[in-house]
Amino acid sequence: MRTQVGIVGAGPAGLLLSHLLHLEGIESVVVETRSREYVEHRVRAGVLEHGPVELLKQAGVGARLVREGLQHHGIELRFGGRGHRIDFPSLTGGRSITVYGQQEVVKDLIRARLAADGRILFEAGALGVDGVDSSAPLVRYRQGDHEGELSCDFVAGCDGSHGICRGAIPAGALTVYEKEYPFAWLGILAAASPSTEELIYAYHERGFALHSMRSPQIGRLYVQVRPDETLDGWPDERIWSELQARLALEGWSLTEGPILEKGITAMRSSVVEPIQYGRLFLAGDAAHIVPATGAKGLNLAVADVRVLAEALAAWYRHGRTDLLERYSATCLRRVWRAEHFSWWMTSMLHRFEGDGAFEQRLQLAQLRYVCGSRAAATTLAENYVGLESV
Ligand code: FAD
Ligand code: PHB
Repeated sequence: MRTQVGIVGAGPAGLLLSHLLHLEGIESVVVETRSREYVEHRVRAGVLEHGPVELLKQAGVGARLVREGLQHHGIELRFGGRGHRIDFPSLTGGRSITVYGQQEVVKDLIRARLAADGRILFEAGALGVDGVDSSAPLVRYRQGDHEGELSCDFVAGCDGSHGICRGAIPAGALTVYEKEYPFAWLGILAAASPSTEELIYAYHERGFALHSMRSPQIGRLYVQVRPDETLDGWPDERIWSELQARLALEGWSLTEGPILEKGITAMRSSVVEPIQYGRLFLAGDAAHIVPATGAKGLNLAVADVRVLAEALAAWYRHGRTDLLERYSATCLRRVWRAEHFSWWMTSMLHRFEGDGAFEQRLQLAQLRYVCGSRAAATTLAENYVGLESV
């Protein structure tokens, strides 16, 4: 099989890239190891920055997002028995964020690609990428008993943190920067109406907790757990009692409901440099991971493919190579800003084992400063809603 751009992975990065290229008249084929059903129901991120929302709307895949997404004008930081609101519009010139499940973005993009006769090969796992330093790279894949080859002009490695594309870059050409945080998040999706309209990030002596949501009927909540814990040690009652303890506030109550889904996610950072080698371009989680506290992973994936789609369009339309050559450096500026913001939020809000009273007082001093100083609150707000330029 032959196409112009071979895309590995039908997550938000791969699907949006395929759609943006289509709008530019560029053909692509997406190979995805999982089924359509699986990728459309994988519960993950939920916060979309202002910029990605605008891009999805402009690209004609934002109608349901506008209808069903929940626009939020602030978040609450809860600590020391009090809630403190960070108001986004007044601190960022009118910007806000939208809460809309990542799997809904994925559904909207798959529907748009298939309606335009876009080719997505589901249950087709890429085995390797060859010839990335030639002008005719190819993706080898297996779909059922069939082994196929996809030859193309360019390969986009959008295959997430456990993908194979990164491995096609020679080790000597790549530097990996990594940080493991000494905790994980246990996340639940629950048939419980959100107990507040906005997200609550809670700093508590028992550990961090986050109250988020997916719809007026469905809550999405997280608690900080040890990195080696498994779901066996967390029956539903324990999860709710921990959430109740960490989110407790006088005059406020947390609504419980049946838990529909639960999972544990490690908190880590990782960046590879460069994110391009020859005709292979990495995008999204294949290139970088952020801890979820800053809500940046999905947004970075969108930012990468926007840059890549523009660069590929300039190449196909005008033979320009400069944007493709700058792809890695352009994206990495935003990536490192998001890495810093995510690290800063994570450091401020979690309990670190081994920390004593001194470190905890530093965290509280920082939280009070963020809530009390307009300058500090602006730092949080402008990063959270997404910086226009970095
Ligand atoms: P993925 O979504 O991982 O997609 C990669 C795709 O490639 C997958 O479909 C995979 O099946 C496929 N694939 C892998 N290997 C192969 C192969 N060999 N061949 C073919 N296909 C392959 N981010 C935010 O911005 N805001 C949030 O609020 C947020 N919350 C999160 C909460 C949790 C619990 C988690 C786990 C993540 C969260 N994130 C958040 C991060 C966000 O979900 C990711 O950054 C995002 O999924 C990245 O998209 P992607 O397309 O790069 O990768
Ligand atoms: C989510 O709703 O899943 C979510 C929200 C904010 C975060 C992380 C996850 O920082």
